[in-house]
Amino acid sequence: MEKLLIRGGRCLSGTVDIRGAKNAALPAFAASLLSDKPLTLRNLPDVVDVRTMQALMEGYGVAVSGRSTDVLTFDAAAAEPHEASYDIVRKMRATILVLGPLLARFGRARVSLPGGCAIGARPVDLHIKALEALGATITVTGGYIEASAPGGLSGARIVFPFSSVGATETAMLAASLARGETEIVNAAKEPEVADLANCLRAMGVTIEGIGTHRLLIQGTSTLKPASHEIVADRIEAGTYAVAAAITGGELELVGARLEHLAAVGEALEAAGVRLWPSDRGLMVTRPGPLTGIDVMTQAYPGFSTDLQAQFMALMCVAEGTSTIRETVFENRFMHVPELVRLGADITLKGTSATVRGVTRLKAAPVMATDLRASVSLVLAGLVAEGETVVSRIYHLDRGYEALDRKLKRCGAEIERVPA
Ligand code: UD1
Repeated sequence: MEKLLIRGGRCLSGTVDIRGAKNAALPAFAASLLSDKPLTLRNLPDVVDVRTMQALMEGYGVAVSGRSTDVLTFDAAAAEPHEASYDIVRKMRATILVLGPLLARFGRARVSLPGGCAIGARPVDLHIKALEALGATITVTGGYIEASAPGGLSGARIVFPFSSVGATETAMLAASLARGETEIVNAAKEPEVADLANCLRAMGVTIEGIGTHRLLIQGTSTLKPASHEIVADRIEAGTYAVAAAITGGELELVGARLEHLAAVGEALEAAGVRLWPSDRGLMVTRPGPLTGIDVMTQAYPGFSTDLQAQFMALMCVAEGTSTIRETVFENRFMHVPELVRLGADITLKGTSATVRGVTRLKAAPVMATDLRASVSLVLAGLVAEGETVVSRIYHLDRGYEALDRKLKRCGAEIERVPA
């Protein structure tokens, strides 16, 4: 196991390449299972979650090839719907995304209930309801979801009670091979969901309403060979935007799209950070003091829950008080006690954290607990006085490609060492 040593106090400047979104890559991998024609995906991030999903695909008999880690071709012509290794499935919640494609293509699937970050209960009831609406029979026993639809799936109207990224993706994947039209109401409209829709479109599925809360999908039985470029990772971009802001530096985030930061971009501006589109992506700088502001996490285009921890690190050194409310996941404040170890002044009450800005943070040993929580500790370490040690960084490697190398290139004093 490795850890990161960070010496705070360096102002970051330079450029950071923002890669394709892990959360768009994972459903696109699952989409490859729908077809016996090859699917080539470009701009893939080299992160552990993506490699885990690749291993899962290979377990189903998908042939994965590519000369580099960022472009892979998936050939699922010989795929079979046998049970996936629990060892892979327990690592990551997104493994549930194979359920819809396997069921739609083979008429049956047996998938373990997924694992993932410990940020809340994270049920999969909406995934199951969506597949039932399309005609599947589903039972959940002994930790497994067993789904069958021997006669194939049929298009239907799926009305979600609230928007779920994963359940929308499951519904889209399954509807792609269902007979007739599927309408998804209250669909999630995160850029990663739109990216999956574009990938499915490239494969030959007709989809209307991309990027809105209502999707119309015409199922097809004839998919074609396709190539798709994964959308830039708005969470990676937002994380580096906070890195620029917290150190008072200036970064160009190559490939990033300002519009995909949505409410996070607005919150950063309100806190004193300046963002503007550049020819290659997005510029971020923080010319003056930071001001504490209040935010509440919400589905896109609201403030992303995946950037809540990073924003909290920023608010720890802002002037004044900030209230941060988490409404998407019930247990997503695991970074709070660790930030407090670094000298932050945070009070937690239910789903709200009140952050009173301090003039300086002080280095301490801290422990990563989940993907986004871990990166918030790295961000805080960039401005803490002394040497911060972040352990359990395997969480970071799940979703950030070369975080330490990218930060170092922009002037951070950061080393990865064996624990
Ligand atoms: C995805 C992202 C994750 C992000 C989250 C919210 C991936 C791989 N992960 O997760 O990084 O934080 O969106 O933007 O893309 N829910 C149910 N029943 C369900 C499904 C979800 O109650 O069947 C609840 C969840 O517990 C949560 C809320 O719905 O409270 C939103 O979750 P969802 O949008 O589904 O998140 P994920 O797809 O798991």
